[in-house]
Formats: sequence, C-alpha cells, structure tokens
Amino acid sequence: MSKNNCLKYYLFVLGCQMNVSDAQRIAKVLDNCGFKQTNKETAADIIIIVACSVRQSAIDRIYGKNRVWQQLKKKKKLLLVLTGCLLTVDQNKMSKIFDVIFDIDDLKNLPKLLHLKTKKSSDNGSYLSVTPKHSNNFQVYVPISTGCNNFCSYCVVPYTRGREISRPSKDIIKECQNLIDHGFKEITLLGQNVNSYGHDLKNDLTFPKLLQKINGLAGDFWLKFITSHPKDMSDELIEIVSISKKVCEYIHLPVQSGDNEILKKMNRGYTKEHYLNLIKKIRKKIPQAAISTDVIVGFPGETKKQFEQTVKLIKEVKFAMAYISQYSPRSQTKANLLKDDIPKKEKKKRKQILNNIINKTSFAYNKKLVNKTIEILVHKRSNKTRYYFGKTKTERHVCFPSPDDLIGQFVKIKITKAHAFCLEGKLIAK
Ligand code: SAM
Ligand code: SF4
Ligand code: F3S
Repeated sequence: MSKNNCLKYYLFVLGCQMNVSDAQRIAKVLDNCGFKQTNKETAADIIIIVACSVRQSAIDRIYGKNRVWQQLKKKKKLLLVLTGCLLTVDQNKMSKIFDVIFDIDDLKNLPKLLHLKTKKSSDNGSYLSVTPKHSNNFQVYVPISTGCNNFCSYCVVPYTRGREISRPSKDIIKECQNLIDHGFKEITLLGQNVNSYGHDLKNDLTFPKLLQKINGLAGDFWLKFITSHPKDMSDELIEIVSISKKVCEYIHLPVQSGDNEILKKMNRGYTKEHYLNLIKKIRKKIPQAAISTDVIVGFPGETKKQFEQTVKLIKEVKFAMAYISQYSPRSQTKANLLKDDIPKKEKKKRKQILNNIINKTSFAYNKKLVNKTIEILVHKRSNKTRYYFGKTKTERHVCFPSPDDLIGQFVKIKITKAHAFCLEGKLIAK
C-alpha cells in the first residue's frame, strides 16, 4: 500500500441512520487521504465495515460476508477494517478476522491507524466535527447527540455508543445554515434519543428550542428528527412541531410493547396509558401527522395475553408505519439474564400478526391521500423507466412519471392511487 491515490475503499454499512451518517464521515477522511470510493467490493483495497449490534442477525451478516472477503484476500492485498456499534465480546471475537479495528470516536486517527499520510490535517474535537461526504446534495443527516442513557433492558446502544453526549447547539445551527446555503432541502436531525437533546448541556437550548431555531433559518427546506422517546415527548415539543412550518409532521415514537408489565421489564419508563395519551395530544395538535413506531415481539416471558395488549394498542393507534423486531438476546444487557423463552416460530408469528395490521393501517392512511395534491421531495429515478420516487413531509413514498430532471427538487403531485406502502401520482407543478 504505497501510493494512497490509487487505492480504493468500499464501505459496508449496517444498522441505522447514525451509522449511515458515520460512514459519510469515514468516507470524507479516506477521500482526504487520496483514496477513491468504490461500490464494488471486489475492486477495493480496503473494506470498512460499520457494524450494528442491535440484533444478532446484524452481527451474523458480518460473519457471512467474511467468507467472501477472505476469498478476496487470497487473491489480492486487502485491508479489512472494522468500526461501528460493537460490544467488546464481538470485537474480541472479530479481532482475528480484521486487520484494523477502531472506535468511531477515534475517526480522526484513522489515517494514522492505516499508516497513511493525510492531505489535510484533521481538526480537533469530536469526530462529529468531521464534515461528512454527503451522498447527494438535497437530503442530509445531522447528528445532534450520540449515545443513550436510558438502558432499556434489551438494548446494546448504551454499551456500544456510550452515554448521551449532545453537540453544542451553535455547532448544529451553523452546520444546518451551511447545508441550507448549499441548497440542501431536507435535514434530518439524528439522536438515539433525539428529544432528550441538551439534558447534558449547561446553558444551552432544549430540543424544542433547537427545532424552533433551525425552523427560523432562512431558506426553503424541511426539518425531520429521529428517534423520539415517549418519556421525553413534552407538550412544548408537540406545540413547536405543530406551529413550525418547516418541521415535518412526522413523528417516530417507538412504543416497543403495549403491555405495562413488559414495558416495565424493558425499563422503558412509561406506561401504555402515557403513550396513548401522547398519541391523543399529537393527533389533537397535529391532525395530519404520520406517527410510526418500533415494536419488539417475544421479549422474555411475553405471554399470549401480553402480546394481545400490543395487538390492541397497534390496532387502536393506527400507525402510518411500524418496524417490528423479534427479540434478540444481547450480551451485556439486563434482559440477557432472562430466559429467551419465546420460540423462534412464535416470535415470527407475532411479528406477522402485527405486520398484517400495519399493512392495513398504512393502506388506510394512504387511501385518504388519494385526489389530494401533496408536496414531495424527489429522491431518485428508476434507471429503466421514467418513474421518479420521492417522499412526502410525512415519509410517505410516492412515485410518478416525468420526462424532466427533477431529482432533489420539491414538486407538487396529485395522488392517483394508494398502495399499502406507497402512493402513485401525477406531476402538477414544479
Ligand atoms: N432509541 C430508540 C427507542 O428508544 O426506541 C430505538 C433505537 S434502537 C437502536 C432501534 C430499534 O431496535 C428499537 O426501537 C427496538 O425496536 C429494536 N431493538 C433494540 N434492541 C433489540 C433487541 N435486543 N432485539 C430486537 N430488537 C431490538
Ligand atoms: Fe436503546 Fe432504549 Fe436508548 Fe433507544 S432509548 S437507544 S432502545 S437504550
Ligand atoms: Fe445499530 Fe448502533 Fe444504530 S447498534 S441500530 S447502528 S445506534
């Protein structure tokens, strides 16, 4: 590995938007070293894995892919680099496979770890101050905090990402202003517990006030945020979302279970009643809001009766979308001390039951949009057809035909047909 400028790197990214955002920072650091990004892993000299540990399946994918990487390594000089959300136990096991393992907080030292010379010297401070290599010029993630203090009994995040650290609001606002000045149309603020932003800062803004400030920046853009925790969903936040024009009426509010005993065992810090009351408040203040959620089925000891409570809640709330996961035991977590006693087949069945309800509620939500004219941000175009794909403020997927180049623009679409998870329409105005 002598000359940096002819080397290629490939990013294999697992997990949530936070990892996608981190991968964009890794790309920037490697670009600054003179590397070229490739989307063909067979062409790469370095493969960087950005790991997720939230479920065992994500870890298994790394072992699955490793067979391919080891074959590649026999044919050429290849450096395997591992980072992302990892538990020590997995990191130790993987140390035999990977040439370099680094903590994402140590991103600025990556060139040194790879024995490379940087073209530009890196700045000081958190790795979040590294400017990301954005994947397009209209949609962007802006992490506002990392880590989590909640210690939900099933979750690895407080162990893999550590305690919650919020970025100073002035840095976030400056970054947003710069993105808007460069024409970005959709900013999504990221945090594992985005609405607890600022709890660790002294004399800085709270999350609702931060939203309000960014909403007040001049420019034509949308502002989204994920993921909100029900215990931090204040009346003030609901009010700010309802009155701030650029803040999208989309609220992702994971409930995880509809049974109070399970919620307690999960250490979620709220009850089903509290959650339902929040939904009521959101619907009252923001009637057009799309509310989505996350649910875990088959948590240790979850009886059929307790699962029925979740079914009831999911039916009652009529979510626009939900991400249903089968409980996956994770080492270091408290729930790992409990017996993973719900058989795989039963977990799968429970997941299917909830997905069937979500199919119906999402379809019902979409059907109400037929004949309405809605603004969308155009994301991409099919290579084969002239169909474009975009998203509404409420994260509804919309497709429509057009001969023009519209990627990255806001356009008005008249919805003509609804499906469970997408809408069809025709272009009304650019
Ligand atoms: N901070 C968010 C919250 O409080 O809901 C969620 C972040 S977590 C990284 C994303 C989702 O993964 C969770 O909402 C949960 O549904 C799922 N998840 C986390 N740990 C899990 C586990 N051990 N087994 C199955 N799903 C899990
Ligand atoms: Fe994990 Fe709970 Fe933190 Fe979400 S709030 S990241 S589920 S510990
Ligand atoms: Fe996974 Fe880390 Fe996100 S564990 S879900 S990539 S915060």
